[in-house]
Amino acid sequence: MSYNLLKGKKGIIFGALDERSIAWKTALRCHEEGAQIVLSNAPVAMRMGEINKLAEKVEAPVVGADATSMDDLKKLFEEATKHFNGGVDFVLHSIGMSLNVRKGKSYTELDYGFNQKTLDISSMSLHRVLRTAWDMDAINEWGSVVALTYIAAQRVFPDYSEMADAKALLESVARSFGYHYGVRKKVRVNTVSQSPTATTAGSGVKGFDGFIDYAQKMSPMGNATGDQCADYCVSLFSDLTRMVTMQNLFHDGGFSFTGVTPEVIAQMGK
Ligand SMILES: NC(=O)c1ccc[n+]([C@@H]2O[C@H](COP(=O)([O-])OP(=O)(O)OC[C@H]3O[C@@H](n4cnc5c(N)ncnc54)[C@H](O)[C@@H]3O)[C@@H](O)[C@H]2O)c1
Repeated sequence: MSYNLLKGKKGIIFGALDERSIAWKTALRCHEEGAQIVLSNAPVAMRMGEINKLAEKVEAPVVGADATSMDDLKKLFEEATKHFNGGVDFVLHSIGMSLNVRKGKSYTELDYGFNQKTLDISSMSLHRVLRTAWDMDAINEWGSVVALTYIAAQRVFPDYSEMADAKALLESVARSFGYHYGVRKKVRVNTVSQSPTATTAGSGVKGFDGFIDYAQKMSPMGNATGDQCADYCVSLFSDLTRMVTMQNLFHDGGFSFTGVTPEVIAQMGK
């Protein structure tokens, strides 16, 4: 159902890899709600070609940008503002990658070269995006920026490894830049802490199926789906949440504040 919540709004959506991606689902919902969109992903991800199917559906141009490259980001914002004939109202940062996890290195054996890349891709890229927009004055007053995160930033999930540190840094960047952007232009910056969701990035975590199952049993409402996350992002891009900023917002069916559930206890007795 559409409520026209984003009628007239223009946004950049990073990170739609395939139809399971949270960014993919968010782009579809934003389009349904009346937004105009520019899609972006790393050039290597774009070569897979899937994003073009989404582009057709949401009538959006695709502009490649490695989120660790200031030149790419500048080009992206230039092309987006040209396409929109004006500034951007919202940005979704849906970017994450752990080189150490990918290479099978455990948390106690981190390769620091990989680690630096992980932090640059998964965390400082948000700073780079905001800085680029800031320098170009590319986000309109009352704009909204959302980055996706995970509760491993607050609590230990051993197999999430260095991504836990990456998410803690990401959440901190959202708060710190959110302060400055709020003062300067009433632009809000928040992170959404999503339930485990079966996507390419999610499935990279060791024992992911067990992980999803556990979270499902530990959440009074069950896990939040990718589609529900897309709905939540729409609400955060809309004018109905103008004074929400610098927050880490849990979107997890109650998981984050649940101590234990009968389902999990029953499992323990077995
Ligand atoms: N899936 C989950 O369980 C879950 C839970 C909480 C938060 N998140 C977060 O949601 C976000 C989206 O992930 P997803 O689950 O939809 O998986 P996904 O694999 O579909 O998306 C990750 C995206 O990051 C992009 N990316 C990687 N390196 C990049 C770079 N250098 N420049 C630009 N883009 C780059 C990839 O191409 C991909 O599109 C991530 O930040 C992830 O950590 C996921």
